[in-house]
Amino acid sequence: MFLALVVLNTLFTSCAAPFPTRLIYETPNPTWFENLATRHDGSILATTVTAPTLYLVRPDSRKQSPKVIEGFNSNTGLLGITEITPDAFVVAGSNFSLTTQAPAPNSSYLYLVTFPSRNSENPTVSVAAHIPNVALPDGIVTLNNRTILVADPPNGAIWSVNIKTGAYSIVSSDPLLKGTGVDGLKLHDDKLYFTDTSERLLGRFAIDLKTGIPVDNASVVARYPDDPPVVAYDDFALSRDGKFAYPVIAGGNSVTQVNVLTGKQVTIAGELNDITTAQPTSAAFGRNGDEGILYVTTAGGLGIPVNGNETVGGQIVAIRVGAH
Ligand SMILES: *[C@@H]1O[C@H](CO)[C@@H](O)[C@H](O)[C@H]1NC(C)=O
Ligand SMILES: *[C@@H]1O[C@H](CO)[C@@H](O)[C@H](O)[C@H]1NC(C)=O
Ligand SMILES: *[C@@H]1O[C@H](CO)[C@@H](O)[C@H](O)[C@H]1NC(C)=O
Ligand SMILES: *[C@@H]1O[C@H](CO)[C@@H](O)[C@H](O)[C@H]1NC(C)=O
Ligand SMILES: *[C@@H]1O[C@H](CO)[C@@H](O)[C@H](O)[C@H]1NC(C)=O
Repeated sequence: MFLALVVLNTLFTSCAAPFPTRLIYETPNPTWFENLATRHDGSILATTVTAPTLYLVRPDSRKQSPKVIEGFNSNTGLLGITEITPDAFVVAGSNFSLTTQAPAPNSSYLYLVTFPSRNSENPTVSVAAHIPNVALPDGIVTLNNRTILVADPPNGAIWSVNIKTGAYSIVSSDPLLKGTGVDGLKLHDDKLYFTDTSERLLGRFAIDLKTGIPVDNASVVARYPDDPPVVAYDDFALSRDGKFAYPVIAGGNSVTQVNVLTGKQVTIAGELNDITTAQPTSAAFGRNGDEGILYVTTAGGLGIPVNGNETVGGQIVAIRVGAH
């Protein structure tokens, strides 16, 4: 295991792919960053599945270590994260074993992380819902100020969860979700986009914005090419204008841009043998002046080592794609 030291670069460096990238933070220990969201002030909240922790990382901090938020005591690791009301985030937790690649039964939770004031870095963490029928709460997205949608890959389903009452039910088990890999969820207007990693596809359907229930059948927006046969389309970001999706290619150590109208896709950062984006897991746009920056979390190759045997700490990488 190659243990990298914390590295903080200050300049964007160009590589073969078209957009410049910059390492924001790399953990000193093997750490699987699984997902992320950004706060109003532009800071990044990144979940880890290797421990029940949430990292608060400031992209402009040159020397400060990230703040590690704890208190997710019902779980061994964290997955999806979404802002539900201003500066309050819902975070999914599971006892997911990286060894067996399976979650412990009865271990799916949703937590509410609430910052008491805008400048606070000390949020309260509480259990919002125990959702044992969800086998694995992976990517999550906010539907309204009390409801989130949850991707559940083992069940090939999307659930709606009311975090005030804890009530939850399946809103879709569309055939396109059946690949046991429904992973990321993002909403633009009434279009719910999803990735299915096992099927290497990005799909979408229209939903009823009150209930989250689909009003049409899912359709394929794009499929990742079969060659090379890498694990593709983990979680993703959607541009604010809803025209581009940015799925990460976990096994390709790269990030792709998909035009959701045409399905055309291009690699925008990283490449197969490149450790600078080592097994990316998700992406999110910056805020507070960083709207043109796409932040990417990585597992550091813990699950899929780069070049077969290279791993690094979990990374947060910035890609300057421009605001859109
Ligand atoms: C999940 O892990 C937590 C933290 O180690 C533990 O307290 C809890 O009992 C586990 N739950 C299940 C269902 O295994
Ligand atoms: C599931 O977990 C809850 C909370 O820890 C516990 O009360 C319940 O007995 C568990 N159910 C099963 C079937 O293990
Ligand atoms: C949540 O949304 C509802 C419906 O839009 C609104 O009436 C309510 O005030 C909101 N509550 C909070 C806490 O924002
Ligand atoms: C969805 O697909 C089913 C099965 O192919 C079909 O019967 C149904 O009409 C479709 N619904 C819509 C809204 O297109
Ligand atoms: C990876 O494997 C190659 C070929 O066997 C070897 O030369 C290299 O030192 C290994 N690297 C690490 C980080 O273990």
